[in-house]
Amino acid sequence: MSVSPQVGWPTFHHAEITPRTAPVGTAAHPLPVIIDSDPGLDDALAIACAVVAPELKLLAVTSVGGNADVHHCTENALRLLELYGAPDVPVAEGAVGPLAGPLERATEVHGEGGLGNTNLPKAARKAEPEGAVALMARLLTESSEPVALIPIGPLTNIALLIRSFPHLAPKISHICLMGGSVGEGNSSASAEFNIYADPTAAEIVFNSGLPITMIGLDVTHHAVLDRTILDRLLQLPGKSAKVAAELLKFSFDRSAAWGQGERMAIHDAVAVLHLASPDLVGVARYRVVVDATAGPARGRTIGDASPYRLKRDKLETNCDVGLTIDSTRFANAIVDVFAKLP
Ligand code: RIB
Ligand code: CA
Repeated sequence: MSVSPQVGWPTFHHAEITPRTAPVGTAAHPLPVIIDSDPGLDDALAIACAVVAPELKLLAVTSVGGNADVHHCTENALRLLELYGAPDVPVAEGAVGPLAGPLERATEVHGEGGLGNTNLPKAARKAEPEGAVALMARLLTESSEPVALIPIGPLTNIALLIRSFPHLAPKISHICLMGGSVGEGNSSASAEFNIYADPTAAEIVFNSGLPITMIGLDVTHHAVLDRTILDRLLQLPGKSAKVAAELLKFSFDRSAAWGQGERMAIHDAVAVLHLASPDLVGVARYRVVVDATAGPARGRTIGDASPYRLKRDKLETNCDVGLTIDSTRFANAIVDVFAKLP
């Protein structure tokens, strides 16, 4: 029996694409950025994008516990930057776990050490002794212009920065975070991992009044790579491309083992590329609030774009939400990045 097409309007309100509020760098005036990360298979590709993009100036990579324990994430960041030929980018270690609630990891996806089965050479240098939040605060203070933050792990360090150094808010040009979803989650039906891992921190960030772009699953689930990317990477000359292929193969195998197909959404790279490209990602304005309670919706980013409700309750939107991306252009961008790496 055929079902007649549904009429009426969807229960999931898809806001209209609107002009972005996030800054975008240019080769003539690269945007200063700090990545806060839990490397992490897709984090590894995101950091590569930031190292290569002429539109961005990567000031630092700070680590946070998430995909793996924070000491693995810190060492992974150091090793990846050396692999990418960027050993001068400072790395500093951040929070072990959330501000409140249980410790969440995603080692079932990323492997115990965070980079699958890949063992990169031990980093020649150590992380900055001052730690992630102090390093971010120092770089914001020293920068001659406001700096964009690109959190691609749980938001613990960012919440600590906002709460410990409120006077530095004017030196934060934008927070372009990978996290959340106005639709379903991934760690739970309600929550995406980065928010799920520290809802309290996410609540502080989304309520901060700072300019935010939420690069959530709504857009990153269209930034998917599959096994066809492996040959494209393996034909490239650099070791970085071969490592990327290894990381992605691990991802595809793990994803297939979990019944999700031989593919992987490269979530974190979308957040980085959004600040390097004016039109790769389409965004819309939402009011996003975070459920930080202990119930089944814990970690949900509730996105409201209903003109009726916002007007009725005299509420304003508080972030751009990524909704659309050119998937082919994204895959080509990833190959182009690794074609330029050693
Ligand atoms: O849900 C995807 C996010 O969780 C990505 O940042 C990935 O690295 C994991 O941390
Ligand atoms: Ca991540």
